[in-house]
Amino acid sequence: MTPAVTIPPAPHGIRGEIHLPGDKSISHRAVLFAALATGESCIRGCSLGEDNLRTIQAVQLLGVDITQHDTTVIVRSRGWDAFQPPSDADVTIDCGNSGTTMRLLSGILAGCSFTSRLDGDASLRQRPMRRVIEPLQLMGATIESEGGQHCAPLRIREQNGLLTGITYTSPVASAQVKSAILLAGLHASGRTTVREPERSRDHTERLLPAFGGRLTVQGRTVSVDGGTPLHAQDVDVPGDLSSAAFFIAAALLLPRSELRIRQIGLNPTRTGIVDIFRAMGAQIDIHNAQNVCGEPVGDLVVRSSSLRGIEVDGELVVRAIDELPMLAVAMAFAHGTSVIRGAAELRVKESDRIRALAVALAALGVTVEELPDGLVIIGQGRVHGGTVHSQGDHRVAMALSVAGLGSDEGVVVQEPECIAISFPGYYRLVQEVTGVRLGAG
Ligand code: S3P
Repeated sequence: MTPAVTIPPAPHGIRGEIHLPGDKSISHRAVLFAALATGESCIRGCSLGEDNLRTIQAVQLLGVDITQHDTTVIVRSRGWDAFQPPSDADVTIDCGNSGTTMRLLSGILAGCSFTSRLDGDASLRQRPMRRVIEPLQLMGATIESEGGQHCAPLRIREQNGLLTGITYTSPVASAQVKSAILLAGLHASGRTTVREPERSRDHTERLLPAFGGRLTVQGRTVSVDGGTPLHAQDVDVPGDLSSAAFFIAAALLLPRSELRIRQIGLNPTRTGIVDIFRAMGAQIDIHNAQNVCGEPVGDLVVRSSSLRGIEVDGELVVRAIDELPMLAVAMAFAHGTSVIRGAAELRVKESDRIRALAVALAALGVTVEELPDGLVIIGQGRVHGGTVHSQGDHRVAMALSVAGLGSDEGVVVQEPECIAISFPGYYRLVQEVTGVRLGAG
């Protein structure tokens, strides 16, 4: 692994047009739903980041046939009932760094007639799994945390017969929790209902009906009827707005920029970052808006903008949850004080993102205060530069690289390779659009 990458300032801005890899959340779901369905599904524009490869490998381990040509993934399945136990001696599926793989699979495996085990890397082993264990146990699943700390590894015992449909009020707004329960609900008797405190991303609700799932949505409540067989479906995955966020921010911060980002997913449960940036003074326009496979999609045109500080919390935090690392960095380049609150979930992501950002921004010369559930950032319109650590977190690494492009002196990012979790070609694309050469360490 490269120990560090040096990101120099990019004085000429970003101009031109880019396409980005497919949406990570939709790609996970497309592969999983296709595996649960009977027949051949073609998923075009699938993300092939390491997290999505974990989901692909997991369903292969369950006996599903998958072939891949470029970013098109063909899934041929005989359906959920034909799944086989993982052939590994200890029936383990390694979910790597991917919380989505682990949580959604736990909902699927909870209803299977064989025992399986879900494990992950050091980061995933620290992430909270009680939020899926408890509702799945209420449905009758036998699922245990091996270490007893409500964390992975998780052992999911064979289920004889159907799970039982429940009505569950989730304490967290989490699409992974909601989706795990709904997927288990497909194999449950009767109806399964999930309520959330805020509306989390709704890709499951949009995509599962295309495969034949019977879902009803009322505000923050989603229900699924058990026992409906799923059938194969082709899916076109839009570009990932969470990956676009780094290029949107770079185009806003760097002078003389005008960037068009083609065919990006603009699902309203995900567009918090666009709304926040616009409220900070960003020039972001949407062109060619259309609907693709039930998801709103469009081109984003972003121009250099002077940003002002802002306070963000509540529903906006949920709608921008994965973009908060990039937002925090952009706030350092804004003029005035910014505050992020109500974002305690950031502490249990791939890293403790509140701590990681507070430490990194301070190392770059930014005045920053860590709150239990967020950050206060004093924007001075510029960032000096320095050496920072990604904490092995892909979104922190990419956000800090954008800080480097906009900085006075450049930024050295330690442990930079983790970007491959969601965006393997990221550094190459940064070099192409900015014209700068990134250096080793
Ligand atoms: C995701 C949901 C979110 C998000 C994650 C992907 C999904 O997590 O942060 O990157 O695909 O369902 P939570 O469900 O924990 O909020």
